[in-house]
Amino acid sequence: MHVKLFLSLLTALSSALVTSAATASQWKNRTIYQIVTDRFATTGAQSSCNLDARQYCGGNLRGIIQKLDYIQGMGFDAIWISPVVSNTDLQGQTGYHGYWSKDIYSINPHFGTADDLKALSSALHSRGMLLMVDVVANHMGPQDKGASTGTSQYTSLYTPFSDPSHYHNFCTITNYNDQNNVEQCWLGSSPQDGLPDLNTENPAVVNLWNSWIKGLVSNYTVDGIRIDTVKHVRKDFWPGFVSSAGVYSIGEVFQGDPAYVGPYQQVMDGLLNYPLYYPLTRAFQKTNQGFNELINMVNSIRTNFKDPMALGNFLENQDNPRFPSITSDTALNTNAITYVLTGDGIPIIYYGEEQRYAGGNDPYNREALWGSGYPTNSPLYVHIQKVNKLRKKVQSASDAPLSTPLTSLYNSSNAWAFKKGNMLVVLSSAGQNSGTQTVSISSSSLPVTQMTDILSCSTFNVNSGGSISVTLNKGLPAVLYPTSGLGGSGLCGR
Ligand SMILES: *[C@@H]1O[C@H](CO)[C@@H](O)[C@H](O)[C@H]1NC(C)=O
Ligand SMILES: *[C@@H]1O[C@H](CO)[C@@H](O)[C@H](O)[C@H]1NC(C)=O
Ligand SMILES: *[C@@H]1O[C@H](CO)[C@@H](O)[C@H](O)[C@H]1NC(C)=O
Repeated sequence: MHVKLFLSLLTALSSALVTSAATASQWKNRTIYQIVTDRFATTGAQSSCNLDARQYCGGNLRGIIQKLDYIQGMGFDAIWISPVVSNTDLQGQTGYHGYWSKDIYSINPHFGTADDLKALSSALHSRGMLLMVDVVANHMGPQDKGASTGTSQYTSLYTPFSDPSHYHNFCTITNYNDQNNVEQCWLGSSPQDGLPDLNTENPAVVNLWNSWIKGLVSNYTVDGIRIDTVKHVRKDFWPGFVSSAGVYSIGEVFQGDPAYVGPYQQVMDGLLNYPLYYPLTRAFQKTNQGFNELINMVNSIRTNFKDPMALGNFLENQDNPRFPSITSDTALNTNAITYVLTGDGIPIIYYGEEQRYAGGNDPYNREALWGSGYPTNSPLYVHIQKVNKLRKKVQSASDAPLSTPLTSLYNSSNAWAFKKGNMLVVLSSAGQNSGTQTVSISSSSLPVTQMTDILSCSTFNVNSGGSISVTLNKGLPAVLYPTSGLGGSGLCGR
């Protein structure tokens, strides 16, 4: 090969690799706060929000800007917001959630204007925070027009997908084990209320999506994208889409089997960690459930995913019942959140989780946060703040707790201890009504030094044999780090 051509190809190739690698690794030591834009903060009146009615309740982009202190005060350095494009309505219900696209080139007027989105982006960047925007490429919003059968008859409703060839013919998904059925058919049971399924095999649709996502990222200086309904689109659609975006991508594959979800990490940077979600919920939904299933899943994720550290861990989101609707035990809740914040992967906390909102399934898990008054002294707000302070403190520490895969050191029916770098996490499922619980751990890999539990500020020593006895109270967890490494963290007076 001609040397000059070879060199320029090499340069192009390595800069492409460096760009995408830097973007994913930039997200790996962040914590993300997930926002349903319509429900997080208003700029005007804070009217009550009737969840059943599925109406717009008044939250908007400017409202988020006004509440960035509240979010950053908990230590988050990134937010994920609802899809930003104009939405359709359906029989009196609205697209307040953002997942019913109508015109992908205009900003949902209920949320604000293009300038408002730019203002949010720059407000975040001036605080050193990142913006993740939710995007939907699988489908458009419902037509609400009583269409009969066949291809969408009301395509004039949509921009730019206004040609019948842009859509798959109507069929319902009847077999979730048949990938072709899952990809080609519509979500919903009829053409009237179903979600018109885009023909993502049509090159015209592919080109429109690729240039759209490129424009969205550059017009609004977006730092990452969360991608909806990923398993409903053929896998090989995604590499072109995410490379056009050019930023970290995290997809929703709503499925608990790591062998099914894992291969999707070949086509995008990260996935929402649904395989973890179910065992995590089961480990803490009642007392004394043991940790075998959860530990086995952490291991299984390692064998099924290319990069477990780029997955997004969560306990709550807009599609699942909030954790306190499953158990009222506040200690179990605190432990489950502690895993999200300290385990392998990128933590994602769903707005309202910090105020222990307890709504059940959709639409009850989409409460208006203004009902809380945004207190910054509630127990979980303070808890999240402490763990995030530690995350920030150790971001560049040589023991690399955030990027080191966890090692399980101890488990029993009501306790699990693991370490990452020199961080030692002791979780309990004994529950809020338990008394004192002592967990004795022994490992030659523990640093022989004094450790501080950054939650209670109690100290414990690792003796020369590498053993430590950690006392937990009332079922609460401990997050320990060498006391000498906490200087300047703002934790426990250091
Ligand atoms: C981005 O801006 C360009 C130039 O104004 C415009 O043509 C394009 O439609 C915009 N894209 C999006 C997604 O807003
Ligand atoms: C939990 O601890 C028991 C007893 O030490 C051990 O046999 C088991 O392998 C551990 N479970 C996991 C998943 O590591
Ligand atoms: C985040 O992690 C990357 C890669 O591990 C590291 O290079 C970078 O310094 C970290 N960011 C900060 C702010 O410490």
